[in-house]
Amino acid sequence: MALRAKRVRKVGVLTGGGDCPGLNAVIRAVVKPLLHQHGYRALGIHDGFLGLIEKSVEELAWGNVSGILTVGGTILGSSNAADPFHFPVRGRGGEVESRDVSAKAVANYRSMGLDALVAIGGDGTMNIAHKLSRLGLNVVGVPKTIDNDLHETDYTFGFNSAVSVIAEALDRLHTTAQSHHRVMVIETMGRYAGWLALAGGIAGGGDVILLPEIPYDMRKVCEVCVGRSKRGKRFTIVVVAEGAKPKGGDLVVQERDPQRTDPVRLGGVANMIGRQITAGSGLETRVTVLGHLQRGGSPTPFDRILATRLGVEAARLVAAGQYDRMACLKGDTITSVPIQKAIDKLKTVPPDHNMVLTARAVGTSFGD
Ligand code: F6P
Repeated sequence: MALRAKRVRKVGVLTGGGDCPGLNAVIRAVVKPLLHQHGYRALGIHDGFLGLIEKSVEELAWGNVSGILTVGGTILGSSNAADPFHFPVRGRGGEVESRDVSAKAVANYRSMGLDALVAIGGDGTMNIAHKLSRLGLNVVGVPKTIDNDLHETDYTFGFNSAVSVIAEALDRLHTTAQSHHRVMVIETMGRYAGWLALAGGIAGGGDVILLPEIPYDMRKVCEVCVGRSKRGKRFTIVVVAEGAKPKGGDLVVQERDPQRTDPVRLGGVANMIGRQITAGSGLETRVTVLGHLQRGGSPTPFDRILATRLGVEAARLVAAGQYDRMACLKGDTITSVPIQKAIDKLKTVPPDHNMVLTARAVGTSFGD
């Protein structure tokens, strides 16, 4: 009996948006089962969707994805300015305009012989993944972001690693704050969601935590700092989410860059708050902006496990032909949902969330 030739299947893998610890762990967990259990080929697409638009790819063999579990960043590179539906192109006069080059991305997917695409990223990447699915591509999503702001998954990988960076920073800032009797203001990332500041602030024992979801009153913040000082606690740790805003006020925007998938780049609120605390309380204040330290380095064991479980689920979805779905964590179960459900709106902190109530119960102020 003639052996029927096995149909060769080729699966593209890309990492989109801002990087975070655990991306390589996912790439490894997607590619190994695809090669080993299913006999497919895997193609690494460089720099997010840019590689799909510019056909910049590499074959991923077992050796390429072995030994990368603990390595930070992404071996494939990433980009948060390569949305095929709004691709920045420089016009004749040097001005940047946005063009829809999705037809090119679709044509490249087909000409490279891809049967499916695994897109690892946050809400921007999932939005693009869903739109490409509607154009006929077989896309599976894996939720990534230190911000933890994606719906339909309890946690995104990267978040736990970033929280551990914030907690360690707060531990270090505590000792120097105590020595010098200062107010320390620490700015975390997180965009429009306060999960990072909230979890990091609780883990590091922040005295004040300011979130985008609970607008603050600067008088209240100053009262907490002065009150602590009067009670003999001559230092205060104020954890500020980059998206925090005062009651009736606005976000602090560092830059607007039309080339990015999200043109708004936040940052700078902690410096403003630091100046206002000094002016309103007379206390000496120092500001630390944690910035990209929160996105660098090796993933925590929690993120290594989560990333591996999500990656293996993505490979399973591809093999099962279940597309336009995102792998996710619900309780202790790894499952999947239609991508559309995850991108309807951002997952922000409900002001009555148990973590907020818990922090309040141990005396943390939200400046409200
Ligand atoms: O979404 C992840 C994130 O780190 C946000 O917390 C932050 O606002 C943004 O990306 C920073 O983007 P960039 O790396 O482009 O400065």
